[in-house]
Amino acid sequence: MTAPVNLYDGHYGHLEAETYQQIRNETYGEDLGQASWITVDESDQFYSWLNLEPSAQVLEIACGSGGFSAYIARKYKVDVTGVDLNQEGITAATHRADREGLTASLHFQVADANEQLPFSDASFEAVFCNDSINHLRNRLAALKEWFRLLKPTGRLLYTDPILVTGQLSNEEMTIRSSIGYYLFTPLGINEQLLAEAGFDLVHVEDVTANVALTAGRWHAAREKRKDVLLQFEPQERYEGVQRFLWVTHKLAEEGRLSRYAYVAQKER
Ligand SMILES: C[S@@+](CC[C@H](N)C(=O)[O-])C[C@H]1O[C@@H](n2cnc3c(N)ncnc32)[C@H](O)[C@@H]1O
Repeated sequence: MTAPVNLYDGHYGHLEAETYQQIRNETYGEDLGQASWITVDESDQFYSWLNLEPSAQVLEIACGSGGFSAYIARKYKVDVTGVDLNQEGITAATHRADREGLTASLHFQVADANEQLPFSDASFEAVFCNDSINHLRNRLAALKEWFRLLKPTGRLLYTDPILVTGQLSNEEMTIRSSIGYYLFTPLGINEQLLAEAGFDLVHVEDVTANVALTAGRWHAAREKRKDVLLQFEPQERYEGVQRFLWVTHKLAEEGRLSRYAYVAQKER
């Protein structure tokens, strides 16, 4: 099914255009090319929860244009493999690795995280997935697959930004999920599925505040540049993305849809 609002192709396809860089700088403070609610401060916090040593092998699922992967490869000297379903995202990520001289420690490939991934058992010290697990259809199967890929004592960190923590109208749910397949999940289910997949839960944290902050700023930064953006985007897409960002901001600010980070370990 084609999503009514095509956010990701537009985002990754225009990643290096100056207007989109300005929008990301205003949204996140520092531009990693992200298409989500992660900032650089949060990237450092998430990295610390992974408990890694330099040269560790990290797998990023749904890496988009590879900003987080490149950031931790550069700063913490780990090796990162990133996969995403979106070809434009992987092309942009590969260009970034070339441009930043990180081709020895960064590898990107197109892969569907709804399927078995093309890596051997116990290949990675950490698996990371930011703001994307909600796009996968069978969460238990995905968690079991990530468990398979981790070495013993390896850690998984993912955020789920689509946790139902209040009342949502049908219209709000439609707009919030207008960019693709979405799984809305009540609190408590992630903990159950992690246990069922074999993981020990290490840490859970409510990280909704970054959604309210970044979605609000992203909306405002785009509105300010509407005339320029309309040279890149059809009006329908521009308006669809604006509605998506506004509803995302409002639901997070009012605490009706939350984002939590889950850190889990394969055996202690
Ligand atoms: C909200 S974006 C987050 C991207 C990146 N993690 C970030 O923080 O900027 C969600 C990503 O999930 C990817 N995605 C959606 N379904 C996927 C699937 N079945 N397999 C792999 N990636 C998928 C999209 O292409 C998109 O890049």
